[in-house]
Amino acid sequence: MSRIAYVNGAYVPHREAQVHVEDRGYQFADAVYEVIAVRGGGLVDEAGHLARLKRSLAELRIRAPMRDTALRHVIREMVARNGVRDGIVYMQVSRGVARRDHPFPAAATKPAIVMTARRMPRFDLRAPVTGIKILTVPDIRWQRCDIKSVSLLPNILAKQQAREAGAYEAWQVDADGRVTEGASTNAWIVTKAGELVTRSASNAILNGITRLALIAIAAKLGVRLVERSFTVAEAKEAREAFITSATSFVLPVVQVDDRVIGNGEPGSISLQLREAYADHMDEAARRSA
Ligand code: PDD
Repeated sequence: MSRIAYVNGAYVPHREAQVHVEDRGYQFADAVYEVIAVRGGGLVDEAGHLARLKRSLAELRIRAPMRDTALRHVIREMVARNGVRDGIVYMQVSRGVARRDHPFPAAATKPAIVMTARRMPRFDLRAPVTGIKILTVPDIRWQRCDIKSVSLLPNILAKQQAREAGAYEAWQVDADGRVTEGASTNAWIVTKAGELVTRSASNAILNGITRLALIAIAAKLGVRLVERSFTVAEAKEAREAFITSATSFVLPVVQVDDRVIGNGEPGSISLQLREAYADHMDEAARRSA
């Protein structure tokens, strides 16, 4: 099955999909995006992702490219046309096409929307998993990290630095030595006292949809959660650590910089939450049909 992309109202072969050279997303990163996981052909937490998309657009005063019902239809078409059982849907909305000039273009300029869908191997979140390594790096981003903007240069540099150091993810650290979040994930620890900790939602982090799902799951499981920031030093002393995102799900961390976390194996609370998140994904995807 050949891949299909969606570009401003048309379904086109993926290899021929193009945007205009004066698309403001291309020239200014004047655009926002969402990534929704597909599980067994269903969408995981679609409503949360679409609500966040709406919020990102509103914060940047970009008009919605279409109504919610139409958007939901296009997302389903993309899953079907690309034969995605497991994978992701990516959507990006820019302020549109206009002669390059920094101020917003004329109000009549139509926002531009593109969408891709990609098949990925199905992960069994109940199977044994080896934990990942984290590299800590300074957070050099702007003060509106709550907006899911395609302006991702600091995130890309952080991720690349991590990969070159043999780590899977980078944890960005603010001026006070506190972890904000990963390059493309939210950051969590379990303290020696057994407290689950993740930074509270603010302009300093993207409020992950996986993060929100896991907060609800933790409450249901009776895992004590505190939403607060934590330092790199505290993370290195933690009993467990893990990251979350729509594509990483719940992924245990076993090393932060040169420091092994716990006994170097994925922690029991991390694995319990990972399994519960697998149930949540299956259930959410089933409901989305
Ligand atoms: N990244 N923080 C950042 C900076 C992110 O880019 C992401 C998601 C998250 C987790 O959000 P969610 O749980 O809603 O996926 C946190 C996506 C997956 C990406 O850029 O590919």
